[in-house]
Amino acid sequence: MLRHATFSQCPSSNPWREPTVSHSVSQPLISRRADRLSGSITVPGDKSISHRALMFGAVAVGTTHISGLLEAGDVLNTAKAMQALGAKVEHLGPGRWNVTGVGLGGFSQPQGDLDFGNSGTGARLAMGLLASSAIHARFVGDASLQSRPMGRVTKPLEQMGVRFEASEGNRLPLVLHGAENAVPITYELPMPSAQVKSAVLIAGLNAPGVTTVIEPVPTRDHTERMLTAFGAKIDVKTEKGRRIIAVTGENELKATEISVPADPSSAAFPIVAALISQGSDITITNVMLNPTRTGLITTLIEMGGDIQILNERPAGGETVGDLRVRSSKLKAVTVPAERAPSMIDEYPILAVAASCAQGVTRMQGLEELRVKESDRLAAVEHGLHVNGVQTTSGPDWLEVTGGPAKGGGFVPTHLDHRIAMSFLVLGLVSAHPVTVDDGSVIATSFPIFLSLMNGLGAAITPAGEIK
Ligand code: S3P
Repeated sequence: MLRHATFSQCPSSNPWREPTVSHSVSQPLISRRADRLSGSITVPGDKSISHRALMFGAVAVGTTHISGLLEAGDVLNTAKAMQALGAKVEHLGPGRWNVTGVGLGGFSQPQGDLDFGNSGTGARLAMGLLASSAIHARFVGDASLQSRPMGRVTKPLEQMGVRFEASEGNRLPLVLHGAENAVPITYELPMPSAQVKSAVLIAGLNAPGVTTVIEPVPTRDHTERMLTAFGAKIDVKTEKGRRIIAVTGENELKATEISVPADPSSAAFPIVAALISQGSDITITNVMLNPTRTGLITTLIEMGGDIQILNERPAGGETVGDLRVRSSKLKAVTVPAERAPSMIDEYPILAVAASCAQGVTRMQGLEELRVKESDRLAAVEHGLHVNGVQTTSGPDWLEVTGGPAKGGGFVPTHLDHRIAMSFLVLGLVSAHPVTVDDGSVIATSFPIFLSLMNGLGAAITPAGEIK
């Protein structure tokens, strides 16, 4: 496979000016059995919040100060796109960035393609952000992103006056032609997607009047929260279980300070690793506990997982806490479909936890997993099978039969960071080591995954190298 994310965290080297996706050979990794994980770690900043901080800063008036930004491939591509569109993006030190915005509708014509690498969030939210600038821009990405559906975003944005020339099947590469006079709309989400919700709301920021999104099933609410912090007029109400979010357009955003908490979707990997490996006791600090993101923690506690939430406190418009996680005897559960949006990125690692639980765990409402960085339902099932775990599945559900994994399998990751990390966690408890075909994809979201996990006592190394 041909991709590798590279960047440096050194403040003086302007890491984001370097290509964050360059072509190189794939990097197979192997994970061996390792009990007794211990120690305290902080995982990197939340990816969803990091993208939004850069994007909203880029269209605000004034300079937004960001700390704790996730410096990983996906987010650095968003930083470069904002710079290419005329915002001033400065890297001050590890996690610390300043973004000086151009005002709503103020983007200038980019000189080259906007490359979003592996990131659906980067590409889809940027389509909403560019909607009302009188420019055209070509959106490109890696093979995974090029295979993902964009019609879910282009369709409502077309109703607002944006024009698109997309590749077959409404995919990338595509050219966006911004609408000089964007039209506000009311849009009911056809699928539970925070990306679609966000793209429409962001486009509405510069449309005259009120743009409304109706969510039959609530999804992560970082856009609503952060836009409010930037001074946008956002009104949220719930009617008959449906969330109705309205943004009043043509109000300039005002630059602000954003402190990015640790990403619960990254914390998910050490959490499950500690639960399933014997004698473990770890703490993960400063984890964001927004209720639209904590479905995995709820599920693992239902399964009997020993997860203590300590020191819960408000931080920058979100709640954060420290998680103490100790190894536990897990039992199978049925995860309700309505919980899916609050743990949509966590099913691969939940499936690994389920493979160590007693009984058959059933997960349902998984149709969106088919259109993530890979077809995650298929990728998870295949990875479990080659490691001796029994599964059954349907179009939108998966059952995993617990029992000690044999391991010994070679797992194709399909350019999907969460598939790579999930199966490396499985290797920690398998009788035989588990190999993933390409660990370089992990750098899109969690570049220090290996060093953090090995620091806790895991044994994950490049395949062929014995620790
Ligand atoms: C995200 C929303 C989710 C999630 C993705 C990040 C966001 O995607 O899978 O990793 O930041 O809005 P969908 O909105 O497509 O479900």
